[in-house]
Amino acid sequence: MRSSYSHSKSTRPSQRKMVCTDLDGTLIGDDDSMYELLDIIDRNNILLVFSTGRHLPLVMKFLDEKKIRKPDACLCLVGTEIYVLEKGQFILDDRWSEIISEGWHRERVLGLLRNIKELVWQPEEFQTKFKASYFLTENREEVLKEIISRVEKAKLEVKIIYSCDQFLDFLPLKSSKSGSLRYLIKRLGVKKKDTIVCGDSGNDLELFRAGFRGIIVGNAHAELKNYKGKNAYHATREYSAGIIEGLRQLDFTGGVNP
Ligand code: GLC
Ligand code: MG
Repeated sequence: MRSSYSHSKSTRPSQRKMVCTDLDGTLIGDDDSMYELLDIIDRNNILLVFSTGRHLPLVMKFLDEKKIRKPDACLCLVGTEIYVLEKGQFILDDRWSEIISEGWHRERVLGLLRNIKELVWQPEEFQTKFKASYFLTENREEVLKEIISRVEKAKLEVKIIYSCDQFLDFLPLKSSKSGSLRYLIKRLGVKKKDTIVCGDSGNDLELFRAGFRGIIVGNAHAELKNYKGKNAYHATREYSAGIIEGLRQLDFTGGVNP
């Protein structure tokens, strides 16, 4: 289902807090802590948002398998698709698609990358109009340097995100996890200071760089673990247990079943 959402319909500023968490390697990894965390979030009436590299069917598969309620919103495919839960259904925000399409030239980006032999094209199900993704595991530094130099020379607007020592995503400049979350909180009327982000890898990094307060779980990859900003709490515990630890440290749950 699609919506032609516009900002004029925006809800009043919400007093509600929001936890925006990555899935793989962050929320997912330790089921007991995950259920405990989801319970804490619900009891505190906190909005739950997933921010993931997965597409929606893979998010739904996870929800079905683990018997978890749908989150209030879902930022899929590294923030290139935004779904908001309305009357129990995820509705794609078409306005967001319009916004990110501006200045995005997927074919030109792919053209620049064509003869780089280290780049391995990901399966078609992970490729969309707004996301082109490869695996990159050999000569990483060199290849990334070469790509950045080609993109700069061609003056192409593209966001390049490397995660987990293997995934390389090319996205519209305005998209990504941070662009989509900034848009979502505005749409829902949630304040940035009332939002906590949680992650474990490179595609979460720019949420922190964009100034969101958040939690880096104990099992995070070096690319995120090395983040030094004061807006990040580095948990010692892993996966969801790290998020619970962080929410307590940041005093985010307001004393109800902390
Ligand atoms: C998910 C996506 C993949 C992407 C990766 C990193 O695994 O399926 O396409 O490259 O996240 O963002
Ligand atoms: Mg992850």
